[in-house]
Amino acid sequence: MIARISSLLSADELAAIRRRLEAGAWADGRLTAGYQSAEVKSNLQLPQSDPAAREAGEIVLRALERSPLFASAALPRHVYPPLFNRYEVGMAFGAHIDNAVRPIPGTPHRLRTDVSATLFLSPAHEYDGGELRIEDTYGAHSVKLEAGDLIVYPASSVHSVAPVTRGARIAAFFWIQSLVRDDAARTLLFELDTAIRGLAAQAADRDSLVRLTGCYHNLLRRWAEL
Ligand code: NI
Repeated sequence: MIARISSLLSADELAAIRRRLEAGAWADGRLTAGYQSAEVKSNLQLPQSDPAAREAGEIVLRALERSPLFASAALPRHVYPPLFNRYEVGMAFGAHIDNAVRPIPGTPHRLRTDVSATLFLSPAHEYDGGELRIEDTYGAHSVKLEAGDLIVYPASSVHSVAPVTRGARIAAFFWIQSLVRDDAARTLLFELDTAIRGLAAQAADRDSLVRLTGCYHNLLRRWAEL
């Protein structure tokens, strides 16, 4: 499922991240690509060891922790420390699928990438092109969001970033290992949770709501991997 989380970042957080990124030492993005992706990848990235990237990443992680929509859509077990990329005019990232397993830098742990996330950091009017294109069984979705908006999508999807033709597109990207590995199961839980929240907001019959909420948790109990 593809889910949009609007205004994940406050204006202050966005400004703080942009300030740190301006101070960062951008490098060739091919450094973190697999051999196949490296052939189609042309962008700049902040090295993971860059203090500016680490501080900006901390701000992103704190914003994720307070978002009920993110929690409901991704059911996060582990979140990869956010990375930052920058596409200038002529830069793009051709069609690829993200690696399934990634070592978490500075730790002995690895993360299974169930969900991919892109957090847009440049105002949409500041650049042309740079759309994130995500393919699923219904076709391709072209995504270009406002600064501070997040999109999450199945990491199993083929996706690409269209060439930037004006300005620069800056974004954070990262992966989530979900409590629920299977996208179809995660989608079902998200739909159920969304419906329950809708009914609760309308002050629906309490006994029915309790039973429905029980169904949500009992499905999660069947499917969650800890
Ligand atoms: Ni990718």
